[in-house]
Amino acid sequence: MGTPAQPSSEAQRTLASSVCGRHILVGITGGIAAYKACTAVSRLVQAGATVTVAMTQGATKFVTPLTFAALSGRTVYSDPWDHVEAGDPQHVNLGAMIDLAVICPCSMDCLARLATGRCDDIVTLILATIDRSKTPVLLVPSMNAAMWGQPSTQRNLATLAADGFAFIGPEAGWQACRTLGMGRMSEPEAILSTIAERLSTRRGDTPRA
Ligand SMILES: Cc1cc2nc3c(=O)[nH]c(=O)nc-3n(C[C@H](O)[C@H](O)[C@H](O)COP(=O)(O)O)c2cc1C
Repeated sequence: MGTPAQPSSEAQRTLASSVCGRHILVGITGGIAAYKACTAVSRLVQAGATVTVAMTQGATKFVTPLTFAALSGRTVYSDPWDHVEAGDPQHVNLGAMIDLAVICPCSMDCLARLATGRCDDIVTLILATIDRSKTPVLLVPSMNAAMWGQPSTQRNLATLAADGFAFIGPEAGWQACRTLGMGRMSEPEAILSTIAERLSTRRGDTPRA
């Protein structure tokens, strides 16, 4: 990897001080806010992080893997059955290599899958291999207000919090269904500052590339 780009602002410098040299998994699920993950990935890469992107099939309907491959400069994983002929199960390797995982956006369905221990897509499969006592997993929910308010969603959130997942947002605000409500995904800046905070509390750890 080449030298990271010169930080362009105070925020970028602060981000770089926490994420430079770290390996971050960005998981993307099928929600309209997937476009915001482009900014998050680009900023992390500019700050010197190694970013691996994994996308559900749903996520690829919103933003193409090509976009994330270009932004990250790395292979994008979207199918658990890809690359298996090489003999190295990519999901186990990735889970062991990363310093932090962030799922943005995290769909209502993904919350349900994680809460019930399912791992039938590449994002939940990689997460299933991560020891959360060592590697933080941040979920960034994004959905419309009715989905957010479902008792099942609220039950799943409580289960996931008890299981050691951390959350960023959501916020109240303008939604893709063109109304105001709770469930809007947090902005990239809030996601990046939480990632920086979580990684700087682990500063003593050896970075993994
Ligand atoms: C246009 C469109 C927008 C959607 N936006 C969201 C969303 O913002 N949040 C959400 O939880 N689901 C949303 N969905 C539904 C999910 O894409 C669907 O539940 C899917 O099964 C999620 O799968 P995944 O978690 O594997 O990506 C949307 C569906 C469509 C067709």
